[in-house]
Amino acid sequence: MDRRSALKLGGIIALGLSLKPYRALAQLSMEDLNKMKFGPDFLWGTATAATQIEGAWNEDGKGLSIWDTFAKKEGKIKDGSNVEVACDFYHKYEEDIDLMASLGFDVFRFSVAWTRILPYGTQYVNQRGIDFYNRVIDYTLAKGMQPWLTLYHWDLPQLLQDKGGWANREVISWFSEYVEVCAKHFGDRVKNWMVFNEPMAFTGLGYLSGMHAPGERGLNKFLKTVHYVSLCQAEGGRILRKNIPDANIGTTFSVTAVEAKDPSKKKHVIAARKADAMFNRLFIEPSLGMGYPIEDLPIIKGIEKFIEEGDKEKLAFKFDFIGLQNYFRTVAKFSLWPPFMWANVVKAEKLVKDKSELTAMGWEVSPKGIYDIIKQFDKYGVPMYITENGAAFEDHLNADGSVHDVKRVQFFKDYLKNVLQAKEEGADLRGYFLWTFMDNFEWAEGYEPRFGIVYNDFNTQRRYVKDSGLWWQNFLKN
Ligand code: BGC
Repeated sequence: MDRRSALKLGGIIALGLSLKPYRALAQLSMEDLNKMKFGPDFLWGTATAATQIEGAWNEDGKGLSIWDTFAKKEGKIKDGSNVEVACDFYHKYEEDIDLMASLGFDVFRFSVAWTRILPYGTQYVNQRGIDFYNRVIDYTLAKGMQPWLTLYHWDLPQLLQDKGGWANREVISWFSEYVEVCAKHFGDRVKNWMVFNEPMAFTGLGYLSGMHAPGERGLNKFLKTVHYVSLCQAEGGRILRKNIPDANIGTTFSVTAVEAKDPSKKKHVIAARKADAMFNRLFIEPSLGMGYPIEDLPIIKGIEKFIEEGDKEKLAFKFDFIGLQNYFRTVAKFSLWPPFMWANVVKAEKLVKDKSELTAMGWEVSPKGIYDIIKQFDKYGVPMYITENGAAFEDHLNADGSVHDVKRVQFFKDYLKNVLQAKEEGADLRGYFLWTFMDNFEWAEGYEPRFGIVYNDFNTQRRYVKDSGLWWQNFLKN
Protein backbone atom coordinates (compact mmCIF):
# COMPACT_ATOMS: atom_id res chain seq x y z
CA MET A 1 0.00 0.00 0.00
CA ASP A 2 1.43 3.42 -0.88
CA ARG A 3 1.83 6.14 1.71
CA ARG A 4 -1.24 8.10 0.67
CA SER A 5 -3.56 5.09 0.71
CA ALA A 6 -2.15 4.10 4.08
CA LEU A 7 -2.79 7.57 5.42
CA LYS A 8 -6.28 7.59 3.96
CA LEU A 9 -7.09 4.25 5.54
CA GLY A 10 -5.66 5.43 8.84
CA GLY A 11 -7.81 8.52 8.59
CA ILE A 12 -10.97 6.54 7.97
CA ILE A 13 -10.25 4.29 10.93
CA ALA A 14 -9.54 7.28 13.13
CA LEU A 15 -12.73 8.91 11.96
CA GLY A 16 -14.72 5.80 12.77
CA LEU A 17 -13.16 5.56 16.19
CA SER A 18 -13.72 9.14 17.04
CA LEU A 19 -17.33 9.26 15.88
CA LYS A 20 -18.56 5.88 17.03
CA PRO A 21 -19.32 6.07 20.72
CA TYR A 22 -20.98 9.51 20.69
CA ARG A 23 -19.13 10.03 23.92
CA ALA A 24 -20.34 11.93 26.90
CA LEU A 25 -23.17 13.65 25.09
CA ALA A 26 -25.24 13.72 28.23
CA GLN A 27 -22.69 16.05 29.79
CA LEU A 28 -22.75 18.31 26.78
CA SER A 29 -26.25 19.52 27.52
CA MET A 30 -28.00 22.04 25.30
CA GLU A 31 -29.51 23.94 28.25
CA ASP A 32 -31.76 26.58 26.81
CA LEU A 33 -30.02 26.62 23.43
CA ASN A 34 -32.16 25.12 20.76
CA LYS A 35 -31.45 25.28 17.08
CA MET A 36 -35.11 25.89 16.27
CA LYS A 37 -35.10 29.13 18.25
CA PHE A 38 -32.98 30.61 15.46
CA GLY A 39 -35.72 29.86 12.95
CA PRO A 40 -36.20 27.12 10.34
CA ASP A 41 -34.30 28.96 7.57
CA PHE A 42 -31.28 29.93 9.67
CA LEU A 43 -28.16 28.39 8.13
CA TRP A 44 -25.42 26.63 10.07
CA GLY A 45 -21.98 26.16 8.65
CA THR A 46 -18.25 25.76 9.12
CA ALA A 47 -15.69 28.07 7.56
CA THR A 48 -12.19 27.41 6.21
CA ALA A 49 -9.63 29.06 3.93
CA ALA A 50 -7.46 27.64 1.15
CA THR A 51 -4.01 28.50 2.51
CA GLN A 52 -4.90 27.28 5.99
CA ILE A 53 -5.99 23.78 4.95
CA GLU A 54 -5.15 22.77 1.38
CA GLY A 55 -1.41 22.10 1.30
CA ALA A 56 -0.34 20.82 -2.17
CA TRP A 57 1.42 24.15 -2.48
CA ASN A 58 3.01 23.38 -5.85
CA GLU A 59 0.87 20.56 -7.18
CA ASP A 60 -1.07 20.38 -10.43
CA GLY A 61 0.24 23.64 -11.80
CA LYS A 62 -0.40 25.88 -8.76
CA GLY A 63 1.62 29.12 -8.68
CA LEU A 64 3.21 30.70 -5.62
CA SER A 65 1.16 32.90 -3.33
CA ILE A 66 2.48 35.51 -0.92
CA TRP A 67 1.92 33.05 1.92
CA ASP A 68 4.01 30.34 0.23
CA THR A 69 6.92 32.76 0.13
CA PHE A 70 6.32 34.71 3.36
CA ALA A 71 6.08 31.58 5.53
CA LYS A 72 9.53 30.52 4.34
CA LYS A 73 11.21 33.71 5.44
CA GLU A 74 13.02 33.33 8.69
CA GLY A 75 11.23 34.49 11.79
CA LYS A 76 7.88 35.22 10.15
CA ILE A 77 5.97 32.21 11.49
CA LYS A 78 6.13 31.62 15.21
CA ASP A 79 6.80 27.88 15.11
CA GLY A 80 8.93 28.03 11.97
CA SER A 81 6.32 26.12 9.96
CA ASN A 82 5.05 26.70 6.43
CA VAL A 83 2.02 25.93 4.26
CA GLU A 84 3.36 23.18 2.04
CA VAL A 85 1.14 20.46 3.52
CA ALA A 86 -1.16 22.23 6.01
CA CYS A 87 -4.11 19.79 6.53
CA ASP A 88 -3.64 18.13 3.16
CA PHE A 89 -7.24 19.00 2.35
CA TYR A 90 -6.26 18.95 -1.33
CA HIS A 91 -6.09 15.17 -1.11
CA LYS A 92 -8.45 14.57 1.78
CA TYR A 93 -11.36 16.79 0.79
CA GLU A 94 -13.83 13.92 0.42
CA GLU A 95 -13.15 12.59 3.89
CA ASP A 96 -13.37 16.10 5.35
CA ILE A 97 -16.60 16.98 3.58
CA ASP A 98 -18.07 13.62 4.64
CA LEU A 99 -17.23 14.43 8.22
CA MET A 100 -18.65 17.93 7.98
CA ALA A 101 -21.89 16.56 6.56
CA SER A 102 -22.06 13.87 9.24
CA LEU A 103 -21.90 16.58 11.90
CA GLY A 104 -25.01 18.11 10.37
CA PHE A 105 -23.89 21.42 8.84
CA ASP A 106 -25.86 23.07 6.03
CA VAL A 107 -23.00 25.14 4.66
CA PHE A 108 -19.35 24.61 3.82
CA ARG A 109 -17.59 27.95 3.47
CA PHE A 110 -14.19 27.74 1.76
CA SER A 111 -11.96 29.96 -0.32
CA VAL A 112 -10.41 29.54 -3.73
CA ALA A 113 -6.63 29.87 -4.04
CA TRP A 114 -6.10 32.46 -6.78
CA THR A 115 -2.79 30.79 -7.74
CA ARG A 116 -4.42 27.41 -8.41
CA ILE A 117 -6.70 29.00 -10.98
CA LEU A 118 -4.36 31.65 -12.40
CA PRO A 119 -0.82 30.54 -11.47
CA TYR A 120 0.70 33.73 -12.86
CA GLY A 121 -2.01 35.94 -11.39
CA THR A 122 -3.58 36.77 -14.75
CA GLN A 123 -4.11 35.34 -18.24
CA TYR A 124 -3.27 31.63 -18.24
CA VAL A 125 -6.08 29.59 -16.64
CA ASN A 126 -4.93 26.34 -15.04
CA GLN A 127 -7.58 23.73 -15.81
CA ARG A 128 -6.32 21.39 -13.06
CA GLY A 129 -7.01 24.09 -10.50
CA ILE A 130 -10.52 24.57 -11.86
CA ASP A 131 -11.01 20.79 -11.76
CA PHE A 132 -10.08 20.66 -8.08
CA TYR A 133 -12.67 23.25 -7.06
CA ASN A 134 -15.24 21.60 -9.31
CA ARG A 135 -14.67 18.40 -7.39
CA VAL A 136 -14.98 20.18 -4.04
CA ILE A 137 -18.16 21.98 -5.11
CA ASP A 138 -19.76 18.87 -6.58
CA TYR A 139 -18.89 16.77 -3.56
CA THR A 140 -20.27 19.39 -1.18
CA LEU A 141 -23.53 19.51 -3.12
CA ALA A 142 -23.70 15.72 -3.31
CA LYS A 143 -23.47 15.62 0.48
CA GLY A 144 -26.45 17.95 0.77
CA MET A 145 -24.50 21.05 1.78
CA GLN A 146 -24.34 24.48 0.17
CA PRO A 147 -20.91 25.64 -1.00
CA TRP A 148 -20.24 29.26 0.09
CA LEU A 149 -17.25 30.55 -1.78
CA THR A 150 -14.83 33.25 -0.63
CA LEU A 151 -12.91 34.69 -3.56
CA TYR A 152 -10.00 36.09 -1.61
CA HIS A 153 -8.77 34.86 1.75
CA TRP A 154 -5.36 36.51 1.77
CA ASP A 155 -3.32 34.53 -0.78
CA LEU A 156 -2.31 37.00 -3.49
CA PRO A 157 -0.17 35.58 -6.31
CA GLN A 158 3.47 36.38 -5.53
CA LEU A 159 4.02 37.55 -9.10
CA LEU A 160 1.40 40.26 -8.57
CA GLN A 161 2.95 41.21 -5.25
CA ASP A 162 6.23 41.67 -7.11
CA LYS A 163 4.45 44.42 -9.03
CA GLY A 164 3.21 46.08 -5.85
CA GLY A 165 0.26 43.86 -4.98
CA TRP A 166 -2.76 45.55 -3.41
CA ALA A 167 -0.83 48.83 -3.36
CA ASN A 168 -0.76 48.99 -7.17
CA ARG A 169 -3.93 50.40 -8.74
CA GLU A 170 -3.62 47.84 -11.52
CA VAL A 171 -4.82 45.27 -8.99
CA ILE A 172 -8.35 46.32 -9.95
CA SER A 173 -7.95 44.78 -13.38
CA TRP A 174 -6.01 41.74 -12.07
CA PHE A 175 -8.66 41.02 -9.47
CA SER A 176 -11.50 41.58 -11.94
CA GLU A 177 -10.03 39.01 -14.26
CA TYR A 178 -9.76 36.49 -11.45
CA VAL A 179 -13.35 37.09 -10.32
CA GLU A 180 -14.60 36.73 -13.88
CA VAL A 181 -12.86 33.34 -14.25
CA CYS A 182 -14.30 32.05 -10.95
CA ALA A 183 -17.80 33.32 -11.73
CA LYS A 184 -17.78 31.73 -15.20
CA HIS A 185 -16.53 28.34 -14.00
CA PHE A 186 -18.35 27.95 -10.71
CA GLY A 187 -21.39 30.21 -10.97
CA ASP A 188 -23.67 27.51 -12.33
CA ARG A 189 -23.48 25.64 -9.00
CA VAL A 190 -22.21 28.14 -6.43
CA LYS A 191 -24.95 30.61 -5.51
CA ASN A 192 -23.45 32.19 -2.40
CA TRP A 193 -20.33 34.30 -2.77
CA MET A 194 -18.10 36.41 -0.57
CA VAL A 195 -15.74 38.78 -2.34
CA PHE A 196 -13.26 39.29 0.49
CA ASN A 197 -12.32 37.81 3.78
CA GLU A 198 -11.68 40.66 6.22
CA PRO A 199 -10.15 43.47 4.14
CA MET A 200 -9.14 45.30 7.30
CA ALA A 201 -7.06 42.33 8.42
CA PHE A 202 -5.19 41.70 5.19
CA THR A 203 -4.46 45.35 4.48
CA GLY A 204 -3.63 46.23 8.11
CA LEU A 205 -1.55 43.16 8.93
CA GLY A 206 -0.07 42.84 5.44
CA TYR A 207 0.77 46.45 4.60
CA LEU A 208 0.74 48.44 7.85
CA SER A 209 2.08 46.30 10.68
CA GLY A 210 3.85 43.81 8.39
CA MET A 211 2.96 40.86 10.60
CA HIS A 212 1.29 39.00 7.75
CA ALA A 213 2.24 38.47 4.11
CA PRO A 214 3.56 40.33 2.23
CA GLY A 215 5.11 41.86 5.39
CA GLU A 216 5.13 45.50 4.27
CA ARG A 217 4.94 48.53 6.56
CA GLY A 218 3.92 52.12 6.05
CA LEU A 219 0.89 54.36 6.33
CA ASN A 220 0.94 55.53 2.73
CA LYS A 221 1.12 52.04 1.36
CA PHE A 222 -1.64 50.96 3.69
CA LEU A 223 -3.90 53.80 2.56
CA LYS A 224 -3.36 52.90 -1.08
CA THR A 225 -4.34 49.30 -0.36
CA VAL A 226 -7.45 50.43 1.54
CA HIS A 227 -8.63 52.38 -1.46
CA TYR A 228 -7.78 49.81 -4.13
CA VAL A 229 -9.20 46.95 -2.07
CA SER A 230 -12.40 48.96 -1.55
CA LEU A 231 -12.68 49.51 -5.29
CA CYS A 232 -12.07 45.80 -5.89
CA GLN A 233 -14.68 44.91 -3.28
CA ALA A 234 -17.40 46.74 -5.21
CA GLU A 235 -16.08 45.72 -8.63
CA GLY A 236 -15.98 42.08 -7.53
CA GLY A 237 -19.65 42.37 -6.54
CA ARG A 238 -20.56 43.86 -9.92
CA ILE A 239 -18.74 41.13 -11.85
CA LEU A 240 -20.48 38.42 -9.86
CA ARG A 241 -23.87 40.10 -10.40
CA LYS A 242 -23.30 40.36 -14.17
CA ASN A 243 -22.27 36.72 -14.51
CA ILE A 244 -24.60 35.11 -11.95
CA PRO A 245 -27.79 37.16 -11.70
CA ASP A 246 -29.37 34.82 -9.12
CA ALA A 247 -26.34 34.83 -6.78
CA ASN A 248 -26.42 35.88 -3.13
CA ILE A 249 -23.43 38.24 -3.02
CA GLY A 250 -21.64 39.41 0.08
CA THR A 251 -18.29 40.21 1.56
CA THR A 252 -17.00 39.67 5.10
CA PHE A 253 -15.61 42.01 7.73
CA SER A 254 -13.62 41.52 10.90
CA VAL A 255 -15.71 43.24 13.56
CA THR A 256 -15.23 44.02 17.23
CA ALA A 257 -17.43 45.88 19.70
CA VAL A 258 -15.42 48.87 20.86
CA GLU A 259 -15.79 50.38 24.31
CA ALA A 260 -13.98 53.32 25.88
CA LYS A 261 -11.65 52.48 28.77
CA ASP A 262 -13.50 55.05 30.86
CA PRO A 263 -16.71 56.29 29.25
CA SER A 264 -16.78 59.31 31.58
CA LYS A 265 -13.54 60.65 30.10
CA LYS A 266 -13.86 62.43 26.79
CA LYS A 267 -10.35 61.53 25.61
CA HIS A 268 -11.10 57.82 25.93
CA VAL A 269 -14.47 58.21 24.22
CA ILE A 270 -12.77 59.93 21.27
CA ALA A 271 -10.16 57.16 21.19
CA ALA A 272 -12.94 54.57 21.08
CA ARG A 273 -14.59 56.40 18.17
CA LYS A 274 -11.30 56.27 16.28
CA ALA A 275 -10.81 52.58 16.98
CA ASP A 276 -14.36 51.87 15.86
CA ALA A 277 -13.83 53.79 12.61
CA MET A 278 -10.59 51.94 11.96
CA PHE A 279 -11.68 48.41 12.88
CA ASN A 280 -15.35 48.39 11.93
CA ARG A 281 -16.28 51.16 9.52
CA LEU A 282 -13.37 51.55 7.10
CA PHE A 283 -14.54 49.03 4.51
CA ILE A 284 -18.29 48.79 4.93
CA GLU A 285 -19.10 52.49 4.74
CA PRO A 286 -17.56 53.16 1.32
CA SER A 287 -19.45 50.13 -0.02
CA LEU A 288 -22.69 51.73 1.18
CA GLY A 289 -21.86 55.01 -0.56
CA MET A 290 -20.98 56.71 2.74
CA GLY A 291 -17.30 57.28 1.90
CA TYR A 292 -14.38 56.70 4.26
CA PRO A 293 -14.84 57.66 7.94
CA ILE A 294 -12.18 60.38 7.73
CA GLU A 295 -13.90 62.72 10.15
CA ASP A 296 -13.69 60.23 13.00
CA LEU A 297 -10.30 58.89 11.92
CA PRO A 298 -8.18 61.83 10.74
CA ILE A 299 -5.09 59.65 10.35
CA ILE A 300 -6.53 58.27 7.10
CA LYS A 301 -7.00 61.69 5.52
CA GLY A 302 -4.05 60.95 3.22
CA ILE A 303 -6.27 58.45 1.38
CA GLU A 304 -7.79 61.35 -0.54
CA LYS A 305 -4.75 61.70 -2.73
CA PHE A 306 -5.35 58.23 -4.16
CA ILE A 307 -8.99 58.86 -5.02
CA GLU A 308 -9.38 59.55 -8.74
CA GLU A 309 -12.31 61.03 -10.56
CA GLY A 310 -15.28 58.68 -10.67
CA ASP A 311 -13.93 56.50 -7.82
CA LYS A 312 -16.51 57.67 -5.26
CA GLU A 313 -19.37 56.18 -7.26
CA LYS A 314 -17.39 53.03 -8.04
CA LEU A 315 -16.81 52.33 -4.33
CA ALA A 316 -20.46 51.50 -3.78
CA PHE A 317 -22.11 48.17 -4.45
CA LYS A 318 -25.42 46.87 -3.14
CA PHE A 319 -24.35 43.68 -1.38
CA ASP A 320 -27.09 41.14 -0.63
CA PHE A 321 -25.47 40.40 2.70
CA ILE A 322 -22.45 41.11 4.83
CA GLY A 323 -20.51 38.55 6.82
CA LEU A 324 -19.50 39.48 10.37
CA GLN A 325 -16.44 37.77 11.83
CA ASN A 326 -16.09 38.24 15.53
CA TYR A 327 -13.76 36.85 18.15
CA PHE A 328 -13.34 39.48 20.92
CA ARG A 329 -14.32 42.98 22.00
CA THR A 330 -11.95 45.95 22.07
CA VAL A 331 -11.40 48.46 24.84
CA ALA A 332 -9.82 51.66 23.53
CA LYS A 333 -7.92 54.33 25.41
CA PHE A 334 -6.30 57.65 24.74
CA SER A 335 -2.60 57.25 24.10
CA LEU A 336 0.30 59.34 22.93
CA TRP A 337 1.62 56.44 20.92
CA PRO A 338 0.57 55.10 17.57
CA PRO A 339 -0.96 52.98 15.96
CA PHE A 340 -3.73 55.40 15.14
CA MET A 341 -2.85 58.81 16.57
CA TRP A 342 -4.01 59.39 20.12
CA ALA A 343 -5.79 56.06 20.32
CA ASN A 344 -4.68 52.59 21.24
CA VAL A 345 -6.22 49.40 22.56
CA VAL A 346 -6.00 48.09 26.10
CA LYS A 347 -4.18 44.74 26.21
CA ALA A 348 -6.53 41.79 26.72
CA GLU A 349 -4.70 40.53 29.81
CA LYS A 350 -5.46 43.82 31.51
CA LEU A 351 -9.18 43.27 30.94
CA VAL A 352 -9.48 39.94 32.69
CA LYS A 353 -9.18 38.91 36.31
CA ASP A 354 -7.70 35.58 35.41
CA LYS A 355 -5.64 34.27 32.48
CA SER A 356 -8.20 31.48 32.07
CA GLU A 357 -10.52 34.05 30.53
CA LEU A 358 -8.12 34.37 27.59
CA THR A 359 -7.97 32.08 24.58
CA ALA A 360 -4.73 30.52 23.34
CA MET A 361 -4.42 33.56 21.05
CA GLY A 362 -4.42 35.78 24.13
CA TRP A 363 -7.87 37.12 23.20
CA GLU A 364 -10.47 37.91 25.82
CA VAL A 365 -13.51 35.64 25.84
CA SER A 366 -16.17 38.30 25.53
CA PRO A 367 -19.51 36.84 24.39
CA LYS A 368 -21.53 39.99 24.92
CA GLY A 369 -19.31 41.63 22.29
CA ILE A 370 -20.94 39.59 19.55
CA TYR A 371 -24.39 40.81 20.62
CA ASP A 372 -23.21 44.42 20.64
CA ILE A 373 -21.57 44.23 17.24
CA ILE A 374 -24.56 42.54 15.59
CA LYS A 375 -26.77 45.33 16.91
CA GLN A 376 -24.32 47.95 15.66
CA PHE A 377 -24.10 46.49 12.15
CA ASP A 378 -27.83 45.85 11.94
CA LYS A 379 -28.24 49.62 11.67
CA TYR A 380 -26.67 49.52 8.18
CA GLY A 381 -29.77 47.65 7.03
CA VAL A 382 -28.03 44.84 5.14
CA PRO A 383 -28.85 41.16 5.95
CA MET A 384 -26.09 39.58 8.01
CA TYR A 385 -24.47 36.21 8.56
CA ILE A 386 -21.88 35.40 11.18
CA THR A 387 -19.28 34.01 8.79
CA GLU A 388 -16.68 33.33 11.49
CA ASN A 389 -16.69 32.90 15.25
CA GLY A 390 -14.70 30.47 17.37
CA ALA A 391 -11.72 30.07 19.66
CA ALA A 392 -8.33 28.46 20.04
CA PHE A 393 -7.66 26.64 23.28
CA GLU A 394 -5.01 24.12 24.22
CA ASP A 395 -6.29 20.68 23.33
CA HIS A 396 -5.14 17.28 24.45
CA LEU A 397 -5.66 14.22 22.28
CA ASN A 398 -6.38 11.21 24.49
CA ALA A 399 -5.33 7.66 23.67
CA ASP A 400 -8.93 6.73 22.82
CA GLY A 401 -9.12 9.52 20.24
CA SER A 402 -11.19 11.86 22.40
CA VAL A 403 -10.50 15.55 22.97
CA HIS A 404 -12.37 17.06 25.90
CA ASP A 405 -12.37 20.69 24.85
CA VAL A 406 -14.69 21.89 27.57
CA LYS A 407 -13.72 25.54 27.15
CA ARG A 408 -14.54 25.58 23.45
CA VAL A 409 -17.97 24.05 24.10
CA GLN A 410 -18.63 26.73 26.69
CA PHE A 411 -17.37 29.42 24.33
CA PHE A 412 -19.83 28.39 21.61
CA LYS A 413 -22.73 28.19 24.05
CA ASP A 414 -22.04 31.64 25.46
CA TYR A 415 -21.55 33.30 22.08
CA LEU A 416 -24.57 31.57 20.58
CA LYS A 417 -26.80 32.78 23.40
CA ASN A 418 -25.78 36.33 22.58
CA VAL A 419 -26.30 35.77 18.87
CA LEU A 420 -29.77 34.43 19.63
CA GLN A 421 -30.62 37.39 21.80
CA ALA A 422 -29.70 39.84 19.02
CA LYS A 423 -31.75 37.82 16.56
CA GLU A 424 -34.76 37.64 18.88
CA GLU A 425 -34.59 41.40 19.25
CA GLY A 426 -35.02 41.69 15.50
CA ALA A 427 -31.52 41.81 13.99
CA ASP A 428 -31.58 40.59 10.38
CA LEU A 429 -29.23 37.69 10.97
CA ARG A 430 -29.58 34.68 8.71
CA GLY A 431 -26.87 32.20 9.59
CA TYR A 432 -23.89 31.29 11.72
CA PHE A 433 -20.70 29.66 10.41
CA LEU A 434 -18.18 28.67 13.03
CA TRP A 435 -14.43 29.04 12.74
CA THR A 436 -13.29 26.43 12.11
CA PHE A 437 -13.88 22.91 10.93
CA MET A 438 -10.43 21.50 11.80
CA ASP A 439 -7.20 22.70 13.38
CA ASN A 440 -5.13 24.35 10.68
CA PHE A 441 -2.43 26.85 9.79
CA GLU A 442 -3.09 29.92 11.93
CA TRP A 443 -1.08 32.36 9.78
CA ALA A 444 1.86 33.98 11.61
CA GLU A 445 1.08 31.84 14.67
CA GLY A 446 1.77 28.59 12.82
CA TYR A 447 0.06 25.35 13.78
CA GLU A 448 0.01 25.74 17.53
CA PRO A 449 -3.27 27.54 18.15
CA ARG A 450 -6.03 25.04 17.53
CA PHE A 451 -9.37 26.49 16.48
CA GLY A 452 -11.03 23.34 15.12
CA ILE A 453 -14.02 21.37 16.31
CA VAL A 454 -12.07 18.51 14.74
CA TYR A 455 -8.57 17.80 16.01
CA ASN A 456 -5.93 17.33 13.35
CA ASP A 457 -2.83 15.31 14.07
CA PHE A 458 -0.43 17.09 11.71
CA ASN A 459 2.00 14.15 11.69
CA THR A 460 -0.48 11.60 10.45
CA GLN A 461 -3.17 13.91 9.05
CA ARG A 462 -5.75 11.97 11.03
CA ARG A 463 -8.86 13.81 12.13
CA TYR A 464 -10.50 13.30 15.54
CA VAL A 465 -13.82 14.87 16.41
CA LYS A 466 -13.48 16.91 19.58
CA ASP A 467 -16.22 17.15 22.18
CA SER A 468 -17.13 20.50 20.64
CA GLY A 469 -17.72 18.71 17.32
CA LEU A 470 -19.99 16.25 19.09
CA TRP A 471 -21.74 19.11 20.82
CA TRP A 472 -22.42 20.70 17.43
CA GLN A 473 -23.61 17.41 16.01
CA ASN A 474 -26.11 17.07 18.80
CA PHE A 475 -27.18 20.69 18.60
CA LEU A 476 -27.75 20.52 14.85
CA LYS A 477 -29.70 17.28 15.11
CA ASN A 478 -32.33 18.91 17.30
C1 BGC B 1 -9.46 34.83 9.71
C2 BGC B 1 -9.06 33.39 9.80
C3 BGC B 1 -8.29 33.16 11.08
C4 BGC B 1 -9.18 33.48 12.24
C5 BGC B 1 -8.55 33.26 13.60
C6 BGC B 1 -9.97 35.41 11.00
O1 BGC B 1 -9.53 36.70 11.11
O2 BGC B 1 -10.40 35.02 8.68
O3 BGC B 1 -8.36 33.05 8.66
O4 BGC B 1 -7.78 31.88 11.18
O5 BGC B 1 -9.53 34.83 12.17
O6 BGC B 1 -7.46 34.07 13.79
